[in-house]
Amino acid sequence: MDQTTSSYHQPVLLIECVEALAPAAFGVIVDGTFGGGGHTRALLASYPEVRIIAIDRDPEALANVPSDPRVHGVLGNFSAMQRIVNDELGAAPDTRGSVDGVLLDLGVSSHQVDTAERGFSYHRSGPIDMRMGADAPASAADLVNTLGPNELRDLIRRYGEERFAGRIAEAIVAARPIHTTTELAAVIANAVPAAARRGGHPARKTFQALRIAANAELDALSTGLEAAIELLRPGGRLCVIAYHSLEDRIVKRRIARGAAACVCPPGLPICACGNEPELEELGRIRPTSVEIEANPRARSAILRIAGKVAV
Ligand SMILES: C[S@@+](CC[C@H](N)C(=O)[O-])C[C@H]1O[C@@H](n2cnc3c(N)ncnc32)[C@H](O)[C@@H]1O
Repeated sequence: MDQTTSSYHQPVLLIECVEALAPAAFGVIVDGTFGGGGHTRALLASYPEVRIIAIDRDPEALANVPSDPRVHGVLGNFSAMQRIVNDELGAAPDTRGSVDGVLLDLGVSSHQVDTAERGFSYHRSGPIDMRMGADAPASAADLVNTLGPNELRDLIRRYGEERFAGRIAEAIVAARPIHTTTELAAVIANAVPAAARRGGHPARKTFQALRIAANAELDALSTGLEAAIELLRPGGRLCVIAYHSLEDRIVKRRIARGAAACVCPPGLPICACGNEPELEELGRIRPTSVEIEANPRARSAILRIAGKVAV
C-alpha cells in the first residue's frame, strides 16, 4: 500500500515533537509508533544527521517506511524496545544510554480506524476485530462473545470509564453472538438511557475499552516507558502523546516518579531514600485551536516531554 502520509494519518503536534527532540538531532531516535510516518518524515527533514528506528506492531504501517538509509522499520511492539534497539544497534548486552530520543504517539492511526475490515469503528460495519497487529492477545470479538457478564462489565468500566458498563455488558451477553461493529454499536446504544445518548456516540467508551483490552495497550505503555527511560542517554528526550486519560495518567505518573527528588513513604520525618531523579519534566502541550480545527482527531491529545538526567 503506497499512501501519502496525510491520507494514512495526519500527524498530531508535529512541530512540537520535532522541536522537543532537537537534542537528538545528531543521534538515534526510536519512533515507537510509526503509523503513517508523519513524525518520522518531519524529523528526517529537520535533522539531516538523525537515525530513526521506526517500530509499529501493524504490518500495514510498516509499508509506509520511506526508503531512506537513515530509517529502519521494525515490525514489533514498543514494549520490546530494548530487544529491538539491541538488535538494531548491536549494543548487547547493555543498551543503556544508546538512544537520544523516544517518541510514542499512542493509540490507533486514522487508517486503522477508517478501514472497516479492521473493526475499530462504530460507524463502519466490519468484523469486531480491533487488533493492531498479530501480537494482540485477543480480538475484540473474542471478548464480546466469550467473557462472562461480570468480566465484560469490569473491562468496560476499567478501560472505558463507562458509567453504564453493567447495563451494556448485560445487553451484549443477551444479544450474543454479535458479528459486526455496527450490530455491537446498536446493542450498546439501546442499552444506555436516552439522555446519555446525547453526549457523543454511546458506543465510544465501550469500543475504546475493547480496543485497549484486545491489544493490552496499557501494559505495553507501562513496559515501553520503562524501556524508553532505560535506553535514553543523559540529555536525551522522551515525548509521549496520549489521547485519553487512562494513557495520560500512566505517562504523567511515570514522569513525575522519575522526576521526584524523594521517594520515601509519606510521613517519614526526614528523607532516607537517597533517590536521585532520573528525569526532568519539560512540559505538557495541547494542540492549538487551529490544529484541532484542521484535524479534529487532535482534540484530546496531550504531549508530555521529559529529559533524561545523569544519575
Ligand atoms: C497515532 S498512530 C501514530 C501516527 C504516527 N505518529 C504518524 O505520524 O503517522 C499510532 C500507531 O502506533 C501503533 N501502535 C500502537 N501501540 C503500539 C505498540 N504497543 N507497539 C507498536 N506500535 C503500536 C499503531 O499500530 C499505530 O500505527
